Parts: sequence; C-alpha cells; structure tokens
Amino acid sequence: MIDGKTAILAVESSCDETAAAVVLDGRDVRSNIISSQIEIHKAYGGVVPEIASRHHLSNINPVVEQALEEAGADMTDIDAIGVTYGPGLVGALLIGLATAKAYALAAGKPLIGVHHIHGHICANYIACPQLEPPFMALVISGGHTNIVDVTDYNTWRVLGGTRDDAAGEAYDKVARVLGLGYPGGPLIDKIAKEGNPEAVPFKRVYLEKGSLDFSFSGIKTGVLNYINGEKQKGREINVPDVAAGFQEAVLEVVVNKTVGAALERREDKIVLAGGVAANSRLRQLLGEACEKHGLGLYCPPPILCTDNAAMIGCAAYYNYRAGIVSGLDLDAVPNLEL
Ligand code: KG4
Ligand code: ZN
Repeated sequence: MIDGKTAILAVESSCDETAAAVVLDGRDVRSNIISSQIEIHKAYGGVVPEIASRHHLSNINPVVEQALEEAGADMTDIDAIGVTYGPGLVGALLIGLATAKAYALAAGKPLIGVHHIHGHICANYIACPQLEPPFMALVISGGHTNIVDVTDYNTWRVLGGTRDDAAGEAYDKVARVLGLGYPGGPLIDKIAKEGNPEAVPFKRVYLEKGSLDFSFSGIKTGVLNYINGEKQKGREINVPDVAAGFQEAVLEVVVNKTVGAALERREDKIVLAGGVAANSRLRQLLGEACEKHGLGLYCPPPILCTDNAAMIGCAAYYNYRAGIVSGLDLDAVPNLEL
C-alpha cells in the first residue's frame, strides 16, 4: 500500500515498447516508464519480432527499477504485480511475463495477468477519473479494430472486429506505399491535414447490413491501383490528398459503425482505445458525431493511447479487486481472444 491505496507494479512488453508503471487504486499513476524501440525497427519498416525480444530482455530490468524508483516505492509497498500475457508477439510477451513472475515470486506478491486490449480500454479510467462503465468502446490499434460493449470493469461483449487487417495496420501499409516511413499512422495523420479528403474517393467498405465488422485489406490495393493508374497517365501523385482520402474512407466507416452501435445498445458514452485513437481526424469526426447524437466521448491523451504499462496497472487493479489473480504458471497467449 502507498498512501492507503492499493499499489500495482505493472509490466508491458507485448510488441515494441518495454514498459513498467506503478499505479495506485487503478487511476493514480505514480510512474509510467516507456522504452520505445521504434527507432530500431524503423530501419526494417516494421517490428522484427526477434529483435524486439532481445531489446526487451536488455531493457526490462532497468525499466522496472526506474518505475519503482520514480514512484518512490520498493517491493514491500507493492500489493500485486500486473503483466500483459496476450495478445502480442510471443517472444516479447515471454520477457515481460518472466520478469513479472520473478518479482512476484521473490517478493511473495500475487501475479495478475492482463489482456492487452482490456488495458487499452482502461487507459480511459486513468485519463478521466469520473468515467465508469457501461460504455461503448472502439479499440483501434496496430493489431485490433473492435467495437466492444463494456458492461463493467471486468466484463464486456465484442460486437464486431476486423475480418482482415487492423486499422493501424492499414495506416502503416498505406504509409509505406506512399513512401512516408514507419510507423505510418502518425505520418498519415500529419500529412493528411494538408490534403483534401474528397479529392480521391476511396471505397467505403460496410460489409453486410447491420454488421459491426470491418475490412481494411482492400484499401491498400485501392491506393496502389490509384497510384499506378495516375503514374500510367503521367500524372504526379498528390500525397496529402491520397493520405486524406484513405484516412477519410477508413474513419467514416469506423465512426458510423461505432456511433450506430452505441445508439442501438443505448449506451450514452463512447470510449476510444489503442494507438490509432491518437489520430486527430478520428477524434474530430467522432467528436462531431457524438455531439450530434448527444453522446459523451472519452479519449486518452496520446501517451496513454499507444502501448504503456500504466493502462496495464489500471486493468490489473480492477482484476485484483474482483479477485481475478493468476498462478505463476501463467503462460503467454499470442492470439488471446477478447
Ligand atoms: O496500440 P499500439 O501502440 O500497438 C498495438 O497494440 O497495436 O498501436 C500502434 C498503431 C500503429 O499501427 C500506429 O501506426 C498507429 O497505432 N497510430 C496511429 C497514430 N498514432 C499511432 N494511427 C493513426 N494516427 C495516429 N496519430
Ligand atoms: Zn497496444
């Protein structure tokens, strides 16, 4: 306990961020250390799993120690250890898990496995102290695009998901096609501001009537075909226009389906989660739609949108409070379902 509050030491290593945090009572973040490997993976145009694991291995202990030090805590102050056990890259997950288990065993503290996406949703509890479930969540990241009806702190129903690429994956692939670099999401976000979203009308994919699923794999081909067609006609590609057009086609569908789901299930709040939740156009379009329909909109600040351990500490606290504790035999589950 710290200041009379339950103290969680949290560890996150599911992809290319090595992160640790100390979080009190789920929402009071005392430290949030993130060691990003983005600069390392940039050279390869994407995350190389084996390289990610090696960097997690060399970074994890200093990151955890720094999180404790910044929080002014030692292991005797910590009540439980939260750790992401899936979904993610198996080698990357295993480093965080082994570390969390070692701390749990050495200090005699309970271990709490956290679903990475549950963590992303919980980032909103940190950002908005008054937020409580139920609400409709849009989880939109490099690995996921889901509409989730969050009924309580530890219960939810997945209403829809992507049938192929995640939205962030589509951003990253289209950015590569446009020669913008990696990771593509923030670069498209920035350059699209200078473009006209209506200049190139890419196809909006809604799937069957009433479906809350998504499909984004076709849009990369759409962008490629457009670029090739323009080149054949000897025309210059207007990169900001293409970026803005692509983004509009993805986000229009995402916003319409999320708002539709909230209205249909009579939720009065929409909560954004995941790396793409940092996108300025998504926040703007969803903000306008929510205002029109009288819905509340919650978005974490960008640092809590992308991978971090504070969100894992928050989710671990709500698991701990509900008596959801893991054994030391907890294993990594790379394809863990939501
Ligand atoms: O949640 P996250 O850090 O990792 C996963 O769990 O996937 O999300 C990373 C994804 C990447 O695809 C990245 O391009 C995207 O989030 N992203 C963005 C923005 N910032 C990050 N996409 C669009 N606009 C942004 N501003
Ligand atoms: Zn994530």
